[in-house]
Order: sequence, then C-alpha cells, then structure tokens
Amino acid sequence: MNTKFITLDTENPDPSVLKEAGEIIKRGGLVAFPTETVYGLGGDALNPESSKKIYAAKGRPSDNPLIVHIWRLEDLPVVAREIPDIAYKLAAEYWPGPLTMIFRKSDAIPFETTGGLDTVAVRFPDNKIALGFIKEAGGFVAAPSANLSGKPSPTLSKYVKEDMDGRIEMILDGGQVGIGLESTIIDLTSEVPTILRPGFITREMLLKLLNEVDVDKTILDGNSKAAPKAPGMKYRHYAPKGDLTVIEGETSKVISYINEKTKEAVKDGKKVCVICTDETEDAFAAKIKKSVGSRADEASVGKELYRVLRECDDEDIEVIFSESFDATGFGQAIMNRLLKAAGHHVINVD
Ligand code: TXA
Ligand code: MG
Repeated sequence: MNTKFITLDTENPDPSVLKEAGEIIKRGGLVAFPTETVYGLGGDALNPESSKKIYAAKGRPSDNPLIVHIWRLEDLPVVAREIPDIAYKLAAEYWPGPLTMIFRKSDAIPFETTGGLDTVAVRFPDNKIALGFIKEAGGFVAAPSANLSGKPSPTLSKYVKEDMDGRIEMILDGGQVGIGLESTIIDLTSEVPTILRPGFITREMLLKLLNEVDVDKTILDGNSKAAPKAPGMKYRHYAPKGDLTVIEGETSKVISYINEKTKEAVKDGKKVCVICTDETEDAFAAKIKKSVGSRADEASVGKELYRVLRECDDEDIEVIFSESFDATGFGQAIMNRLLKAAGHHVINVD
C-alpha cells in the first residue's frame, strides 16, 4: 500500500485534506493523525472491519480495546450508555483534552472495537487537525497510539512513518505533539471512579470535581499480582531495544553510580546512553547523553521522553541509564511510562 504523507497547518488545517482523510475512514481505511497527547491510528469505530485492520496494522493483540474519539460532546450518548452526571462535570472542565472516560458501551459500538468488553473508552481530543478529521470521518474514530505494538507511542510524525509506512492509507503530519504521553484514563463504571492510566490530567485535578478517585494498583507497582483493568497496561509497552535501568536517589550519588556503570559497560564493548536533565547533563561522563529538558519543567520531560527512547532505538543503544523523577502530579504519568519501559528495573543508590 502506498501511504500518503501530508503536512498540515496545526491552526488552520486544509479542509480539503481533512475531507480526503475522512473519506478514507468512511470507506473502511486507516489514517494516522496528531492529537495533543500522541499520534493516533484511526479507523471507523462503528465498523468492525476497520477495528480488525487497526489491530493488524499495529501487530496488536485484539483483546486490547481501542479508544473511541469524538469531536463534540453531544455525540457521547451515541457510543455510551448509563452516562453518570460526573462525566458531564468532568467534560465541562477537561474536554476537549487529554482525559479518556470509560462507560458502558452502546449497541452502536461493535465488540471488535472494545476487545470484547461491554465498556467503551471515549476521548474528545484537543487538537484542530484531530477534531476536523474526526468530524469528516463521520464522528467516531477508534484510535490506539500510532506505533507498532511494543514501541513507544509516536510524538513526531517521522516515527508514525517509520512504523506505519505501507500499512495504512494516510498520515496527517501536525509536527511534534504538545503533551507527549497518552491521555489519563478514568473508569466511570466502577463504584469509585478509578484511574487506569495516569496522564496529564492528574488525580489532584480530578479530585477538584469528584469526591473520591482511586488509582489502579498496578500503575506504579511492578510487583503487583493484580491484573490491570486497562488490558493494554499489562503488555510490556514503551520498551526500547536497549537494556534500560532507572537510577533513583540523591543526585550526586545517582551521577557517580551511572558514571561508574557507564565505564563498565563501555569496557564490555557496549553502546551506552544516559537519559538526563539539563541540570545534570554536564556531570555525566557518557559519550551519548540525552536530556529530556529541565527537571523544573515536568511538561518538557513528558513531551520529550518517548522521542528520547525512540532515538535510543535509532542509534542502536545497548545499555541505557536514566535518572528518576518525582512520581507526583504529572510525574506519576512520567514515572509510570519510564518504569514500564525499564520493565521495572530500578536501582536505589541512597
Ligand atoms: O492519548 C491517548 O489516549 C492516545 C491518543 C491517540 O488518543 N491513544 C491511546 O490509545 O493511547 P492506546 O490504544 O494506545 O491505549 C488505550 C488504552 C489501553 O491500555 C487499553 O487497554 C485501554 O486504553 N482501554 C481502552 N478501552 C478500555 C476499556 N473499555 N476498559 C479498560 N481499558 C480500556
Ligand atoms: Mg498505545
């Protein structure tokens, strides 16, 4: 298949291109598109054949449900039923935005889209290209992140191309995305609303509107024996090819430990990279260092993390050491992804 790659103005996307992309979806094809979190791989959420194609293009197990993207709130009852009042409260504050809510599914949504579940994840993204495209596509676009299964989600269109070229009809290029980590997922079908995946919308932000918010136990705990409620969270996602270890502890100790281990790995003939921050970059002895931005700016760390993990793959890095981050606020999402990428391989040097 010849994959069309079209760059769009993020503020004023060309309507004729959005229309063409929408037509592809209506015909049962697939189009990758930018959102404010990561790039998505879209198909018609109401068409079981489209969902099957998405799983095939990603090489993803089909028990892993897809998120249904909408472009206006009034379409929510088309895909979900028994919508609780709190959903409208959350929507008023955080939609469009990086929050996915889980409801009981309506009959309009085929089980192929929900991986056999009776629930549906719904998201109203905050990105002009995404919204225009979803509208032209008929209003309901099922979209996982646009990476091959097991790779970090793409935050730049070049990584969508790397993974999806020849597998889908079109890629809409909207430059580097703003947030860089996937949306927060909150399950509204459980007695107490429960975060299944942390993201830019934090528990603290949700607690401004809800009395109680639980967090799925498997999110930061690598030893938890419980099955994660978001089926996708059980797979070893976001994994770079290299062997990644996260080092936590007091900064100067982290630096000396990483420098010592770098020396050993280089002696063993390994290609090493250190994932660091602007504040510490100069202190590391490794030849290859990648900063995810300033430690003071969590948003930058979230935005750059997947790019840096992808670059490690591009450069065939064999051993990766990363600094650790505070797991509070947006930091919970950052650490959740970093620890998953590391297969929960963490060393504390304090
Ligand atoms: O930011 C995002 O959410 C991006 C962009 C493209 O919108 N999408 C995304 O989709 O991250 P994906 O498929 O990579 O991750 C969806 C996650 C998976 O872990 C999946 O198991 C979970 O959402 N999920 C979807 N529907 C669910 C449901 N009904 N119940 C529980 N978990 C669900
Ligand atoms: Mg994904």
